[in-house]
Amino acid sequence: MTTYRLGPVDELPVGEGRAYAVGDEMVAVFRLRTGELRAVSAVCPHAGGPLADGLIDAKVVICPLHQHVFALETGHCQTTPHLALRTYPVREESGQMIMNVSPVSGSDSTTTS
Ligand code: FES
Repeated sequence: MTTYRLGPVDELPVGEGRAYAVGDEMVAVFRLRTGELRAVSAVCPHAGGPLADGLIDAKVVICPLHQHVFALETGHCQTTPHLALRTYPVREESGQMIMNVSPVSGSDSTTTS
């Protein structure tokens, strides 16, 4: 498990998202109107849309490219069930956005061709 400091939470406007490089991954972090933070993979699994630019409410993000709807808490796609986002634990600590990331289980960087 690696801990990443993403920067001051005040840099992320309420109701918006922003993409951050976290290790080898791009993660979209959203600041809900309640002030809570949510984090999901930044690249839409449908066709690579930029999810940090999507519209959010308290529970979902809508991809800006084809409007698939993903739950911010679970990553499940509500419009195309076989799609899903990875979710990440993110929290605010002393005004900073903090994320703990562990490697994707079952992933294997070895490629064969
Ligand atoms: S790229 Fe996100 S819905 Fe198509």
